[in-house]
Amino acid sequence: MKIPTAAGFVTLMLFCLVHAEICPLSCICKPLGEMKGWLVDCSSKGLKEVPALSVSTRKLYLQNNSMTTVRAGAFDNLRNLEEVNVSDNPWNCDCDILYLKLWLEDFSESSIANVICATPASNERKPLSQLSGNELDSCRKSLPIKCLDFFWRDLALITFAVLVLILTLCALRKHLRKIVLCV
Ligand SMILES: *[C@@H]1O[C@H](CO)[C@@H](O)[C@H](O)[C@H]1NC(C)=O
Ligand SMILES: *[C@@H]1O[C@H](CO)[C@@H](O)[C@H](O)[C@H]1NC(C)=O
Repeated sequence: MKIPTAAGFVTLMLFCLVHAEICPLSCICKPLGEMKGWLVDCSSKGLKEVPALSVSTRKLYLQNNSMTTVRAGAFDNLRNLEEVNVSDNPWNCDCDILYLKLWLEDFSESSIANVICATPASNERKPLSQLSGNELDSCRKSLPIKCLDFFWRDLALITFAVLVLILTLCALRKHLRKIVLCV
């Protein structure tokens, strides 16, 4: 009697451990048969971001949440994924949405079909699949701004170097005169 109970307990503990590793908090997960991976249902949970996901995720439901963007690389480890749904989220379609757009396009045509932008106003209700780089606002601006940053930094460094040179020359002038006088 004792041994089966202990074995059952260990099995349960093991199941809980595996389950905790596979199932993000507040999601509902179901095994899809032996070694077939898991169905991870995180839909309608008010999630603001993609939870940490296990590599054994095979079906992933993230629809009807409050996600506005996906951190770059968030889906990269999901090598066994077969199905994903990210529709009905208030996606903010600025430059940062590019990772999600490219990843979904790469994953499957149907996965990006129902993905609609909520903000910014210029992209409201537009399908993510139809946005081009130009419409993804800050994408265009970010490069010149970075270049400008480098320009100002370089200008500041050069100005500083010239100032130091002038001050050094001024300071040395007295000594130089002395040296000249001595000679
Ligand atoms: C979407 O999620 C909200 C809770 O966040 C829930 O009340 C609502 O019924 C869900 N809608 C659908 C269509 O599942
Ligand atoms: C995603 O879920 C929504 C709402 O449940 C559904 O209407 C839509 O067809 C699903 N999309 C995909 C690609 O499964």
